[in-house]
Amino acid sequence: MSELTLTSLLLLFPLIFIVLTSAPPTIASEAATKGYSKSIPRFLGKFANPNRGKSFQYETRYFEQRLDHFSIADLPRFRQRYLISTRHWTGPDRMGPIFLYCGNEGDIEWFAANTGFVWDIAPRFGAMVLFPEHRYYGESMPYGSRDKAYANAASLSYLTAEQALADFAVLVTSLKRNLSAEGCPVVLFGGSYGGMLATWMRLKYPHIAIGALASSAPILQFEDIVPPETFYDIVSSSFKRESISCFDTIKKSWDVIISEGQKNDGLRQLTKAFRLCRDLKKTEDLSEWLDSAYSFLAMVNYPYPSDFLMPLPGHPIKEVCRKMDSCPEGTSVLERIFEGVSVYYNYTGKVECFQLDDDPHGMDGWNWQACTEMVMPMASSRESSMFPTYDYNYSSFQEGCWKDFSVKPRPTWITTEFGGHDFETTLKVFGSNIIFSNGLLDPWSGGSVLQNISETVVALVTEEGAHHIDLRSSTAEDPDWLVEQRAFEVKLIKGWIEDYHQKRNSVFSI
Ligand SMILES: *[C@@H]1O[C@H](CO)[C@@H](O)[C@H](O)[C@H]1NC(C)=O
Ligand SMILES: *[C@@H]1O[C@H](CO)[C@@H](O)[C@H](O)[C@H]1NC(C)=O
Ligand SMILES: *[C@@H]1O[C@H](CO)[C@@H](O)[C@H](O)[C@H]1NC(C)=O
Ligand SMILES: *[C@@H]1O[C@H](CO)[C@@H](O)[C@H](O)[C@H]1NC(C)=O
Repeated sequence: MSELTLTSLLLLFPLIFIVLTSAPPTIASEAATKGYSKSIPRFLGKFANPNRGKSFQYETRYFEQRLDHFSIADLPRFRQRYLISTRHWTGPDRMGPIFLYCGNEGDIEWFAANTGFVWDIAPRFGAMVLFPEHRYYGESMPYGSRDKAYANAASLSYLTAEQALADFAVLVTSLKRNLSAEGCPVVLFGGSYGGMLATWMRLKYPHIAIGALASSAPILQFEDIVPPETFYDIVSSSFKRESISCFDTIKKSWDVIISEGQKNDGLRQLTKAFRLCRDLKKTEDLSEWLDSAYSFLAMVNYPYPSDFLMPLPGHPIKEVCRKMDSCPEGTSVLERIFEGVSVYYNYTGKVECFQLDDDPHGMDGWNWQACTEMVMPMASSRESSMFPTYDYNYSSFQEGCWKDFSVKPRPTWITTEFGGHDFETTLKVFGSNIIFSNGLLDPWSGGSVLQNISETVVALVTEEGAHHIDLRSSTAEDPDWLVEQRAFEVKLIKGWIEDYHQKRNSVFSI
């Protein structure tokens, strides 16, 4: 992260640090005046590295898009990148389906490389595979360059979920027309924010897509629909279920870091203890770095070794806790923490020192989205969280957004545009052909749909699943529940396609 982004993250959540019972009062009051900062939990975008993941065969193409789909204004157009494979497509005559992955906040090649499920099942369906990139990410930059697209609030104002959905809709419609494939059914896929897009696209564009598999899509993480503590409570319980002492060590560590930092030479000692590449300027930077390790560990707590965000062993939280707990008697809290997070940041053993600021870019697309439409309240509870206690404070959030982007958030827009309150009724009455898949180990699962809504709006919930594990390629190590989950998803998608053909035929024969 550059100075700018780091500052922006810190300003977004300048939170009041509420005294943990164990904290000596002097530290507590100091912390309260300094404020404890917390970054927005992210999905994955920041780590999107196209070289991470499997490579699949596709062609890269570009399509000219309007900058603003919702006004007639003649604005400069931009090139949207999309990846396409027609290798297994049975074509228009046989109504070969089109599998469209709703690109989310990152380079589309990375999502293609990490969404093996779509590639794995396409041959069986004779499907075309399409991965359109989300505007303002990867190569799909309005105004010709990232710097110009990210220049200011005016240039960023076309970075919205509605515009991205319209991009997908316009692209697939144009593609189908050019291929005389108007009758081919489109099935949507998406993970995380991409899963939210897939859900919303199915609801907004039912004439374009016949169904959506929305994996780990926290579409209810808005306003007061779910408690703001949900995310950090789930991260915490993922650690607690492995080991109470590990949970306790982490819970204690935040105060220890603050008090160490206040000692003479404290920041230098922390720099040394955590083998940081550059001198620590404030303890918040270290806390933030640890916080994101724990949150990401909970997301990628997969049962087999993986290289999604970072190279990691299977059951990585179990491994982190094993490291922390197996330190000899008398090992300090911070030494234990160091051992633990090394599993996340240095599993390969090749890291020479730790770089706290690792994002080379300045302004960040997800921060912009979080400051405009995607306002997801986050808090950390006193009882069940291993993170410092804090309450969600919308005013300070809003101030941070104004400072960073000169923009005022629209915290109620998403639910107005797409729904959210009493969403189950809406889905029951107006929705069909949506799968919400979630693993309960994933901290985002708490903001998703975890109950079956109707015959065709189905929730697949796995106890041992983490962040959209079902969208990954199948591997020899897949546990039975995962094999079964994917088989069920295939069965449901097959049903949507058959149903589509049946209804279409009956309409034509009238
Ligand atoms: C469809 O054809 C038109 C006219 O040649 C072209 O401008 C457009 O880019 C094509 N659409 C896609 C998705 O390739
Ligand atoms: C990373 O792990 C290797 C192997 O255990 C170790 O030699 C190295 O010092 C570690 N790097 C850091 C920054 O701790
Ligand atoms: C929330 O933040 C605002 C602005 O920073 C501050 O004035 C207010 O005291 C905070 N509220 C609470 C309850 O901490
Ligand atoms: C939803 O229904 C399917 C069967 O259609 C079932 O396999 C699944 O377990 C149900 N989900 C929940 C959360 O009960």
